[in-house]
Amino acid sequence: MDSPDKPLRRSQAWFGREGKQGFYYRSWLKSLGVPHDMFDGRPVIGICNTWSELAPCNSSLRELAEHVKRGVYEAGGFPLEFPVMSLGETQMRPTAMLFRNLASMDVEESIRANPIDGVVLLMGCDKTTPSLLLGAASVDLPTIGLSGGPALSGNWRGNPIGSGTGVIQMSEMVRAGEMSQQEFVDAEACMQRSKGSCMTMGTASTMACMVEALGMSLPENAAIPAVDARRFRLAHLTGRRIVRMVEEDLRMSRILTRAAFENAIRANAAVGGSTNAVIHLLALAGRLGVPLTLQDWDDIGSKLPCLADLKPSGQHLMEDFYYAGGLPAVLREIVGELDLDALTANGRTLGENIADAPCWNREVIRSIDAPFKPEAGIAVLRGNLAPDGAIVKPSAASPHLLRHRGRAVVFENIEDFRARIDDEALDIDETCVMVLKNCGPRGYPGMAEVGNMPLPPKLLRRGVTDMVRISDARMSGTAYGTVVLHVSPEAAVGGSLALVRDGDSIELDVPGRRLHLDVDEAELERRRVEWREAPRPARGWARLYFDHVQQAHLGADLDILVGGSGDLVERDSH
Ligand code: FES
Ligand code: MG
Repeated sequence: MDSPDKPLRRSQAWFGREGKQGFYYRSWLKSLGVPHDMFDGRPVIGICNTWSELAPCNSSLRELAEHVKRGVYEAGGFPLEFPVMSLGETQMRPTAMLFRNLASMDVEESIRANPIDGVVLLMGCDKTTPSLLLGAASVDLPTIGLSGGPALSGNWRGNPIGSGTGVIQMSEMVRAGEMSQQEFVDAEACMQRSKGSCMTMGTASTMACMVEALGMSLPENAAIPAVDARRFRLAHLTGRRIVRMVEEDLRMSRILTRAAFENAIRANAAVGGSTNAVIHLLALAGRLGVPLTLQDWDDIGSKLPCLADLKPSGQHLMEDFYYAGGLPAVLREIVGELDLDALTANGRTLGENIADAPCWNREVIRSIDAPFKPEAGIAVLRGNLAPDGAIVKPSAASPHLLRHRGRAVVFENIEDFRARIDDEALDIDETCVMVLKNCGPRGYPGMAEVGNMPLPPKLLRRGVTDMVRISDARMSGTAYGTVVLHVSPEAAVGGSLALVRDGDSIELDVPGRRLHLDVDEAELERRRVEWREAPRPARGWARLYFDHVQQAHLGADLDILVGGSGDLVERDSH
């Protein structure tokens, strides 16, 4: 099997043993019906599955795993599927993001502790993708990603509605008195009408695009609908491919180079991707020791146009995106901006993968010469209100608000916001700047998607559709508006965001990349003395998280998780 000069396959440190140890490692697995020759040194492929009914977006992954196994067997591998913590974006309180790093620890330790030579990551819903990538990166085995794929287009009364984006629009219509409560409830079953992840270019679709742009999946992974037979075909091919990746020793760190991250940042701009990708890719780079900073997002991606006319920024949905050619068609348009030599999971370069990618619909995927939106990437803002940076997605913002000075209307936390925003007596108009504190990594805790604060009903009724909003929170990838996010340092660690008071003047200048609180330093110092730290959680994960989470500009990973520990485990369990 292995020649003497070739290191023994990792799984053989379990299965290749004689005596009592080998008995332990093989005997219990034989209870699955595994014949003895499956332990002969063939690549053992772990299929890391986030299937869960509590993460309904990932509910197709059980079936998908069976197709991966077909491919693994066919290529001469030995597949073993295992579950890991699955983060359902819509169900988990206080926010699924609180658990991204916890799930990544589950993934990392499950891979390292077990007799696995290569890994297939089955992911879909927002946080399931980064949690699996992060965990797997800290082990660094040959690894390939497979996304569950987006759900079919939502449809309500003959019109398309998109995941998340539709909820946000319709709930504002209810608040403005334009839609009845019964109609709103009826629309629930019309939006997510098939298995699959959100079918807007929200965080799930964005992260699936990141997986593909990083080279961590086979081409077309991002957009094939969850229920399309071609998704199952892709699963089969992914199973075949991971066996070869083990034979080639094609580890994650060979794919996830600085060039791969730069390609992903550019892809994010070109598809109009979610701001959440910023945090997840920074954390992923940290696991691999790839130098990547928040500023890179602006330097590398901000000048690129958005080519995909997809909700929340545009009109179409992921199904349309796939039929139009999907991510390969977009990447082919920005080919001059990409590092085409970047290696991908299929063993070919990114350039080879996209060389002939066709576009079938120029309404959905525009050409580089006639883009959907110019300069669409993430802008990184700095100033005394965000010394370590804050971000805004100009393509989702209102052009007239990109340069704006206004009076701050401050909410101390999300409860304060919810208690007062519908109050007709609230002293606010459309020129004000809404400020929300204590929703960052430590403050919420978990940095919830509450940064796109709903507008006051009295302004909605007057036809106001956007205002400048600033917070240390994130926002859903399906959301839109002139929303400044990820202010760092956050209010809960005493960042200057904590010091803003009602009536202060705030200046936002996106072209100038500036976010300024117009209060003199002496006054800020007086306020700083009065500031009190938030209470530390008493125990458990929340405590560990609170003590170790890093700020948003570093990717909000735990400081103790940065880097990797490789795949070696020397001791036996018995
Ligand atoms: Fe799961 Fe959007 S809520 S993918
Ligand atoms: Mg989301």
